[in-house]
Amino acid sequence: MLIGVGLGPGDPELLTLKAVETLKKAHKVYVPGRLAADLVAPYAQADILDFPMLTDYDVLNAIWKKNADMLAEESKDNLVVFGLIGDPNFFSTFTHLKRVMNKFYPEVETATIPGISSITSFAAQADSEVDSSFEVSDGSEKKYRIRLKASRPSEIIDSYEREGYSKFTFCERLFSPQELIITERDKIPEKGNYFSIIFAEKE
Ligand SMILES: C[S@@+](CC[C@H](N)C(=O)[O-])C[C@H]1O[C@@H](n2cnc3c(N)ncnc32)[C@H](O)[C@@H]1O
Repeated sequence: MLIGVGLGPGDPELLTLKAVETLKKAHKVYVPGRLAADLVAPYAQADILDFPMLTDYDVLNAIWKKNADMLAEESKDNLVVFGLIGDPNFFSTFTHLKRVMNKFYPEVETATIPGISSITSFAAQADSEVDSSFEVSDGSEKKYRIRLKASRPSEIIDSYEREGYSKFTFCERLFSPQELIITERDKIPEKGNYFSIIFAEKE
């Protein structure tokens, strides 16, 4: 199994318990750079994988494929961890590695463990607060929307569809025994719990 583990924003005390336990259990740990290797060091010795900062998509794809080829065999029967800064599903090298792995090696199971992202953790250091809607951008086209307090999911999705969003994930009481995740549009209920999120995507 190949797991992308979020290591938090850089403070060695901001790794989650689950990240630490997974690093300790891992057969092999890989990271994309020195900062991540240092965060992992108390729990495992990491190998640095080559993930250069390039913009040529063809060259990048070839590098992601090369890394997937290298990790596929050992990830099939062992726990292999790829540790990275912040969260593994937000602007992350792991997203590409996982996509290529799923495409060329579907027999390798993949998963992620969330980490504390720079997107939320900056606020503590900068003594800032966010209590209204906001935008996170890396300069690329806007394709996603995250709606908190989605207690009237169907109504919210109707309005997002009018704005061109076409794929929706409704999440309720995540990480609890009552966790509910619905991806089929016609199964998303009229009413939801306060602890609910809609993830909307433009395809
Ligand atoms: C490729 S993205 C990785 C984001 C990461 N997966 C996350 O969840 O925070 C790299 C960008 O994240 C931001 N970033 C990550 N860690 C940071 C930190 N400790 N301080 C400031 N910005 C940070 C910077 O904007 C940087 O250019």
